[in-house]
Amino acid sequence: MEFQKELEKRRTFAIISHPDAGKTTLTEKLLLFGGAIQIAGAVKSNKIKKTATSDFMEIEKQRGISVATSVMTFEYSGKKINILDTPGHKDFAEDTYRTLTAVDSVILVIDCVKGVEEQTERLMEVCRMRDTPVIVFINKLDREGQDPFDLLDELEQKLSIRVRPVTWPVNMGSDFKGVYHLLEHQMNFFKVNKTRIEDDVVKLSLDSPELDKSVGAKDAKQLRDDIELINGVYDEFNEENYLKGEVAPVFFGSAVNNFGIKELLDSFCEISPLPISRETNVRRVFPDEKKFSGFVFKIHANIDPRHRDRIAFLRICSGKFERGKFYKHVRSGKDVRFSNPYMFMADSKNVVDEGFPGDVVGLYDTGNFKIGDTLTEGEIMQFTGIPSFSPELFREVINTDPLKTKQLEKGVEQLSEEGVAQLFTMQPGNRKIIGTVGELQFEVIQHRLLNEYGASCRFEGRPFSKACWLTSKDQAKLDEFIRLKGHFIAYDKDKNPVFLAETDWILRMNKENNPDIEFHTTSEFKVAGS
Ligand code: G4P
Repeated sequence: MEFQKELEKRRTFAIISHPDAGKTTLTEKLLLFGGAIQIAGAVKSNKIKKTATSDFMEIEKQRGISVATSVMTFEYSGKKINILDTPGHKDFAEDTYRTLTAVDSVILVIDCVKGVEEQTERLMEVCRMRDTPVIVFINKLDREGQDPFDLLDELEQKLSIRVRPVTWPVNMGSDFKGVYHLLEHQMNFFKVNKTRIEDDVVKLSLDSPELDKSVGAKDAKQLRDDIELINGVYDEFNEENYLKGEVAPVFFGSAVNNFGIKELLDSFCEISPLPISRETNVRRVFPDEKKFSGFVFKIHANIDPRHRDRIAFLRICSGKFERGKFYKHVRSGKDVRFSNPYMFMADSKNVVDEGFPGDVVGLYDTGNFKIGDTLTEGEIMQFTGIPSFSPELFREVINTDPLKTKQLEKGVEQLSEEGVAQLFTMQPGNRKIIGTVGELQFEVIQHRLLNEYGASCRFEGRPFSKACWLTSKDQAKLDEFIRLKGHFIAYDKDKNPVFLAETDWILRMNKENNPDIEFHTTSEFKVAGS
């Protein structure tokens, strides 16, 4: 059956990393393998350089480019692979968190010199919340990095996941000789080469004298010792535990030299999950169900500021999506249809007639969609597991042009629906507080409000550092808490009460003093816990 075949071909994942670890380079090499791009450097421009924090042109350029690279699709080894792009800049981390709700697995890139960095820890927390299967790629082996065993220890400690090496490096830096594949029993010899696809791979059992000849007796002994230690310390690789998100297979290589990537990609195709089932507020939805369903995980403003059209990115969860067919937009209850849905192929986009579970389609939107919206063939249900995460910076929006109050309100509301920032309302006076995870977003908002809505504003800092969504089994206690803490209470876009804490200490005190109130760091409590 055609549908089942299409479903089984799909692999949808994201690459995550701390900026500069090599995500863009790896993405590009994967696309080269898939033949989706012909030359190196094609994906490179999809990046806000770290120096460009106040360069609006750069931000605008990024917005344009990132529409095209939001999803990159290529075929390899009979699979249709969708890479969902995540912004590298840490100020757009929330965008990344949301994209992670739409994938079935991730590849985590680590710089072997720097080890596990801050941004990696935070992204992995989000993956751990959802038990997303993870493959680790330790990059830049052509540089003098940390000891690989130390790197593995650090991964386990900081990311709370067990690891299992699948390939293992012979030396590093200027003496880097290649990687040994522990499951295939073969040696891939390192050569500096940025475009080559063919690897220099030789089947070699560990006890073969050929190994001594090819890498030298000293390194051959070291490799044997290392692998003996690995087999003693780490459990055998077990696919089931990987799929449960409990253990991460680890690969070593050098993305810029296109080295160690084929091993990664081949294993990925073999073990990574097919489109997975997903929870709704009513029931679990399985990808092989006949009827179509999907959810919006990202909304992107069109690059042309004269039009307020947006593109909503829909992840297909079940059934077949068809162009021109009516679907139910569950939140509004309206039936909607799309005459020009499109999909992306590296740097081009094409109108498509159909899509299958795991695929992402771009839908033109004139302002009807919000992040998290569900489309179905009629069933009333809402996909869950697309929470908002607590912002870290909070500022009040001050209108500087009273004649444009309406435009400002509309702009702020639409930008928050798009997920650029989170909007909270505080009383008295319906004050609008914007929460973000980075400075850059405030600049983007101010710039876009002016350019797209003709509204001007400034921001006044608010000393909060965390937002916690509040619930309680005892409504009277919750009401009382909200009354007493009025200065620290805001309401999110869905009118849920949120406690804004200035410091972690204040938050802890409030938790301790109010045992009947639950404080949640994401807006969706069942999925994330607190
Ligand atoms: P990111 O998307 O995770 O932010 O990282 P990106 O791929 O842009 O890589 C960051 C830098 O690391 C780039 O250098 C890239 O060339 C380099 N890099 C990636 N893989 C390797 C590797 O295996 N070995 C070494 N030595 N370097 C690697 P850059 O100087 O920022 O950019 P460019 O001028 O080289 O393009």
